[in-house]
Amino acid sequence: MAVRRTQSSGNGEPPGDLLTQLDSIRSEALAAVEAAGSVSACDEVRIRYLAKKGPIQDVMKLMGKLGSDERPAVGERANAVRDAITEALAARRATLAKSERAARLEAEFIDITLPGTPRPLGSIHPITRTIQEVSHIFRGLGFSVAEGPEVEDDWHNFEALNIPADHPARDMHDTLYLAGSPLLLRTHTSPVQIRAMMSQPPPLAIICPGKTYRRDQIDATHSAMFHQIEGLLVGKDVAFSHLMGVIEEFIHAFFGPDIPVRFRPSFFPFTEPSAEVDMLRRVVKREGDRVSESEAWTEIMGCGMVDPEVFKAVGYDPEVWTGFAFGMGVERLAMIRSGITDIRLFFENDIRFLSQLG
Ligand code: DAH
Repeated sequence: MAVRRTQSSGNGEPPGDLLTQLDSIRSEALAAVEAAGSVSACDEVRIRYLAKKGPIQDVMKLMGKLGSDERPAVGERANAVRDAITEALAARRATLAKSERAARLEAEFIDITLPGTPRPLGSIHPITRTIQEVSHIFRGLGFSVAEGPEVEDDWHNFEALNIPADHPARDMHDTLYLAGSPLLLRTHTSPVQIRAMMSQPPPLAIICPGKTYRRDQIDATHSAMFHQIEGLLVGKDVAFSHLMGVIEEFIHAFFGPDIPVRFRPSFFPFTEPSAEVDMLRRVVKREGDRVSESEAWTEIMGCGMVDPEVFKAVGYDPEVWTGFAFGMGVERLAMIRSGITDIRLFFENDIRFLSQLG
């Protein structure tokens, strides 16, 4: 809008005219505020009416021509007009900013309520789980868990266990030797017995879970790498009946109470007497529609009373100390309990198999 600059009559601009001009600036500005449709339009209105070179300033410049008694009224009105426009602008701007923000949020909305990318949970490998479970049972019976190296020497793996170089028992352990080295991959967990006894005085009660290796032809029941759990208890007056009690306790805890267990005489170089432990198992056979149930004794582990020669090898006095030992295959335990018929399934790591047993 143009400010009317009436030629001064010499007595100065009539104040009434300036007041009218201010009032019309006000109503024009307020209408512009009302019409502003966006925050940036509000900013334009502010620049147009309130900036240094705006219409209010123009009116103020003409005030110099007024008499000093007339100036305050015009100054006051100018301030009031500026305040009214500022206030209306602030209110309008706030309203518009709010709705613009709401519109932007609406436009940028991302629906996160849909199911996201599924992240499958892993599970503990059935072999690890079996080891954990067996360890838990034996811990409850007062055993602690010991470990030893998978790369062994001949003495720990054979000699100290009363298996000298020419012993026929060596034939049963198809040993994997390290190329260009006298070292070997342990064929059983029994060397951990030796290491435990060498490193601590009796009495002791340990179990030793771990990997073992044999040069076996791989088939449904043989793997070149498998797991064993060894047990050893040494004390005073330890008898075969203690061994039987511990083994029965374990089998009942792991496979179920009331399962019949039997001890069958056997031979191991490091135990005397030695036995093989069987448990009676229900076998369900399905042939077409016909389901037949039978019972069968299944071998679970080897065991026996520690041979005095083993005590001599580790420096325990066989006149004072007696003990028992046992050893079992972890895969075998898991296979029997879960009805798995092929050991290779454990190592193929097919998720469908692992998740069923995990
Ligand atoms: N070391 C034996 C094996 O690998 C298993 C075993 C049998 C361990 C009897 C024992 C034991 O401690 O007493 O075939």
